[in-house]
Amino acid sequence: MNWETLTDYDALSDRAAKILLAAIRSDPHIVLGLPTGRTPVRMYERVVGACSREYHCFRDAVTFNLDEYVGIEQDHPGSYCTFMKRHLFDFIDIDPVNAHIPNGAAPDLDAECARYEKAIADVGGLGLTFLGLGANGHIAFNEPGTPFDSRTRVVALTESTRVANESLFPEGNVPAQAITMGIATILASKSIVLLASGSRKRGAIERLRSGEVSEQFPASALWEHPNVTVLIA
Ligand code: GLP
Repeated sequence: MNWETLTDYDALSDRAAKILLAAIRSDPHIVLGLPTGRTPVRMYERVVGACSREYHCFRDAVTFNLDEYVGIEQDHPGSYCTFMKRHLFDFIDIDPVNAHIPNGAAPDLDAECARYEKAIADVGGLGLTFLGLGANGHIAFNEPGTPFDSRTRVVALTESTRVANESLFPEGNVPAQAITMGIATILASKSIVLLASGSRKRGAIERLRSGEVSEQFPASALWEHPNVTVLIA
């Protein structure tokens, strides 16, 4: 695991954006795994800025988001679909058919999970995946206790995760479930970059750094991957 400590959130976002853009330059057909949450917002801002100068960035790229809430429409203001449009997809030249997000409003959720997992496999798997970190160590929506061999599936969100994600659901009705890539889905990515910024993540970062590998702490699965970079600020 490569650890990089950046001076602040801006520097972390610059570094993450540079990694993402360099990966597209070296392989324009790259398959990216993309996160949501507050942490990657400025990385996306930097990527959008760079791509407005250097168009065609995403012309041949393929993206798969890590997760999506269940039970809300894709155009709901709190959906990760809306998030991705607002922060990235509306400003880059990605072909919409290549920008994948699980559909949490699908009538058959298990079929949707299987379809998503197959869509990733059909393009040869994830190349570079960015992850945020939950304060409880979750990655994507894989909460503590998730088996490391898990694949894309429907999960129940913990109360602490629902509270942490309240800001986009003003009426307090954060969905109780989500579709998430599994830990095995994420670990199959050729390389992984984990982003963690701020005091709220310090405890989780220290636990990750301790090297203890446990299903009670999902991010610790990353120790089983040969190419992980952790950016902290
Ligand atoms: C949500 C997302 C995760 C994200 C986490 C941290 O639960 N599903 O993928 O990593 O939040 O979010 P934030 O960056 O806002 O702290």
